[in-house]
Amino acid sequence: MTDNSQTPDSRVDTDQSVPDATNGTADQPRRAAKVSNDADATTGEEVRPKLRIGDLNFWYGDTHALKGITMDIAPNEVTALIGPSGCGKSTLLRCMNRMNELIQGTTMDGQVMLDGQDIYEKEADPVMVRRRVGMVFQKPNPFPKTIYKNVAWGAKINGYTGDVEALVERSLRQAALWDEVKDRLHTPAYDLSGGQQQRLCIARTLAVEPDVVLMDEPASALDPIATSKVEETITELKKDYTIVIVTHNMQQASRISDRTAFLYMGRLIEMNRTDQLFTRPQKDRTEAYVTGRFG
Ligand SMILES: Nc1ncnc2c1ncn2[C@@H]1O[C@H](COP(=O)(O)OP(=O)(O)O)[C@@H](O)[C@H]1O
Ligand SMILES: [Mg+2]
Repeated sequence: MTDNSQTPDSRVDTDQSVPDATNGTADQPRRAAKVSNDADATTGEEVRPKLRIGDLNFWYGDTHALKGITMDIAPNEVTALIGPSGCGKSTLLRCMNRMNELIQGTTMDGQVMLDGQDIYEKEADPVMVRRRVGMVFQKPNPFPKTIYKNVAWGAKINGYTGDVEALVERSLRQAALWDEVKDRLHTPAYDLSGGQQQRLCIARTLAVEPDVVLMDEPASALDPIATSKVEETITELKKDYTIVIVTHNMQQASRISDRTAFLYMGRLIEMNRTDQLFTRPQKDRTEAYVTGRFG
């Protein structure tokens, strides 16, 4: 457990031995969990998880930021990560596309499986992982280029050989921005409003044609109208993508997510269908948080 590389032998067979905390009681990390083949213990549906996280630990130097996180992310759903500031939400999100390994002095232990393949195995290419698992950040960060070039960049880095113009249009439509920008595609992205810039960044991420889109508080820098636009966009996107969103806004989590995971001090306290987690939390700590008694 010294760095992010693992031998193939240490890989865990996704359907056999990764504990399943979908229905949420993982505040006993490193326990030997009973194996479940159900992706969704709440409904009994057998859907293969898009992402499967097994006993994940993460350190920044001596800071133990993630402690034995085990969770499944269902495909074509929005999963929200909530919890007080510093509980590890962003760290967990970055583990899902190997962005943490870009930070010096960090250590990871555990598995992150994407469609049953360990994204940290020796043969896995981190660049390819990040194409399949895209990320949208808190502050919109368009390039100092035109709207068109921002989106076409995704196609370019992807070595896209198809019709780039069509891809740009499709990505902008998916990000619910097309109608607002179709007559000004070749004007600077910086001239857009903050909310439009964030949807442009979503379009740029989609143009890489990922499977999963990670979003770290994507609306927290936006006004309420821009926020609701971005939320509508996210709801539309789950038809085609798997979304994991960090939010400190519990109303937002309950509006847009199908499932919610509550983290506290580096541990996954509870994960469940969003309505259940908010209305019938199973852990006292979850209840205290969702009812606003701390956080
Ligand atoms: N780049 C970093 N270097 C050192 N410590 C970090 C870094 N990023 C986060 N941490 C620490 O890891 C813990 C989890 O942080 P983070 O994942 O950012 O939490 P959240 O997103 O829930 O606010 C905190 O204790 C934080 O101080
Ligand atoms: Mg954060």
